[in-house]
Amino acid sequence: MTTVHFPVLCAEMLEGLAIKPDGTYIDATAGLGGHSGQIAKRLDGGGRLYSCDRDAESLEMAKASCAENTAESFDRIEFVHTPFSRLKERLAALQAGKANGFVADLGVSRMQLTTPDRGFSFMSDGPLDMRMDRSEGETAADIVNFTPEKELADLIYKYGEERRSRHIARAIMRARPIRTTKHLADVIQSAAPRMGKIHSATLSFQALRIVVNGELDEIESLLAVIPDLMQSGGRVAMISFHSLEDRLLKKQFQQWAREGKAKILTKHVMKPTAAEINANAASRSAKLRLVEMT
Ligand SMILES: C[S@@+](CC[C@H](N)C(=O)[O-])C[C@H]1O[C@@H](n2cnc3c(N)ncnc32)[C@H](O)[C@@H]1O
Repeated sequence: MTTVHFPVLCAEMLEGLAIKPDGTYIDATAGLGGHSGQIAKRLDGGGRLYSCDRDAESLEMAKASCAENTAESFDRIEFVHTPFSRLKERLAALQAGKANGFVADLGVSRMQLTTPDRGFSFMSDGPLDMRMDRSEGETAADIVNFTPEKELADLIYKYGEERRSRHIARAIMRARPIRTTKHLADVIQSAAPRMGKIHSATLSFQALRIVVNGELDEIESLLAVIPDLMQSGGRVAMISFHSLEDRLLKKQFQQWAREGKAKILTKHVMKPTAAEINANAASRSAKLRLVEMT
């Protein structure tokens, strides 16, 4: 199946990576293979790309898309099923060596968001799952149905930056058990009606997704190992989609710069052009940051 896929901020990322055709590259978030395919195409016989994801279904899609779009470069890609928190040991086991470039395009893919069965979105009805790796861990239904009210309100506030978290948590308590995305969205909507442009369930769904996948801890564990994975002069490009993610990247990049471990290449974050947002509305909140390791 061929699907139209727009890797976010792709031209900017590729330019920032300054790819060496015989270099070693890591894509920590293979997703649908958009960025991986573009990197692989720029490698020659000496180059290698490790394309990684914690979602086995995404990885299969990345593989299919790269097989279709990268021709002979496909053989230069190794697909690795791993979360960020095990990336270093997985790459060491594969004797990947130090990388010339590293990319991570955080968050969820369009496939994850639009497949009802994955339970990430309130736009369609599906089981309340939200796990990127469906082989392990608690689902969103587990969190929604078994977390005490105050804790639930706190996590919706902290990870969704949702000011109406207490009303929402109270409504969830009354409506339990909640097993589907549509049911949860309706409960949230009735407790906290839409105020602006965004759907009233957006922030609570973001919070649940972050908790289910331990997303912020995962990003921190990734940032902790990046210096060990990179060669001197290697470039790191990371794309975030909300302020909680971007804050972690910004803080870490600044710390590396202070410690002399990296040079910041993006004084101001790079954002998609109006043309990209027009073609792909999902890119509108993306921010790209780049550093060069010293
Ligand atoms: C925005 S998509 C990446 C899209 C990709 N750059 C492309 O061009 O198709 C993010 C991907 O990162 C993966 N991901 C998110 N957090 C992860 C983690 N902690 N470990 C490994 N993969 C993760 C998700 O499963 C998802 O497939």
